[in-house]
Amino acid sequence: MDGPVRAMRNTIAVMNTKGGVGKSTLVLALAETLSAQFRKNVLIIDSDSQASISTMLLTAANLHRLQSEGLTVVDLLVASVLNKQEVEWPRFVVGGVSDVDEARTVYLIPSDMQLTLFEREVSKESLHLRLRSSIHSLLGNVRGVFDVVFIDCPPGLSVLTESWLREADFHFSPTKPDYISTCGLEVLRRFKSLNPEMGFAENLGVCINMKEGHSAVDAEYHRWLTSNPDNRCFAHTVPRTGALQHASHLNSVERSYVAKYPGDSGTAIKAIAEELLGRLATANAPSFPPASGAASAS
Ligand SMILES: Nc1ncnc2c1ncn2[C@@H]1O[C@H](COP(=O)(O)OP(=O)(O)OP(=O)(O)O)[C@@H](O)[C@H]1O
Ligand SMILES: [Mg+2]
Repeated sequence: MDGPVRAMRNTIAVMNTKGGVGKSTLVLALAETLSAQFRKNVLIIDSDSQASISTMLLTAANLHRLQSEGLTVVDLLVASVLNKQEVEWPRFVVGGVSDVDEARTVYLIPSDMQLTLFEREVSKESLHLRLRSSIHSLLGNVRGVFDVVFIDCPPGLSVLTESWLREADFHFSPTKPDYISTCGLEVLRRFKSLNPEMGFAENLGVCINMKEGHSAVDAEYHRWLTSNPDNRCFAHTVPRTGALQHASHLNSVERSYVAKYPGDSGTAIKAIAEELLGRLATANAPSFPPASGAASAS
């Protein structure tokens, strides 16, 4: 008898407890690459009160309008967690974002500074379980609609970030090849091991970002990170390039994918995107353990 059809496990919390390692930049570049080069529908949930990925994908005027109209992740969470309302989540999803003209299937739930106040309210009222169940149902809804869902988390382990990490299918961690960023990975690992009974996302892998081609120190950190199998380091690394540094500046006119991600930048991001899709496919592949005592085919 066939079991119920289960949606792909495709929700990914992008997280490193260290700031400035390129989480938002890689979410942007991967989303645009998955859309433009791999024809995927990608949803980005901006869970950072700084709204950095929202400003990378929307003009200030459009972001301001959505914030004023109450159409951000904060409004979604306030309605669902604080006001206990049924939420029509598609209302909060903005399409047609991104300045890459081939990337037409990137979608965003934008953020707002008010997110900090919401988190304070959740802590004050001890609404952690309600928050977690709202996140659970949101991810359950978007999982079946999009091919890949990225949650762009801020650095640090806030109550909201903890909920994403416990409810998402995977976590993906960009890191710089330096000491403090790798400590950020260690903190995440220790946090994961603290309450295993509470559930936690599976590690989709660590991606080394901003690697300098000629730096012996970077190469040493690369070797060190790769030597720990728990990291599941991506085979490819992302170099520090001017193009990736400027990718965060939304262009007022659309540009082609190669104009935004030329040369080494595009090559690296496409390789990471391909590897990410491969890892998702492997993680979702049905496993057929041989039934005990089953007769052999021969
Ligand atoms: N591969 C890269 N090459 C050059 N610059 C990069 C690269 N990746 C990220 N940057 C730059 O590094 C800075 C930090 O990147 P970003 O904001 O994406 O990091 P973050 O981890 O999201 O930070 P936060 O923790 O504040 O959310 C930005 O100025 C960005 O342009
Ligand atoms: Mg960020």
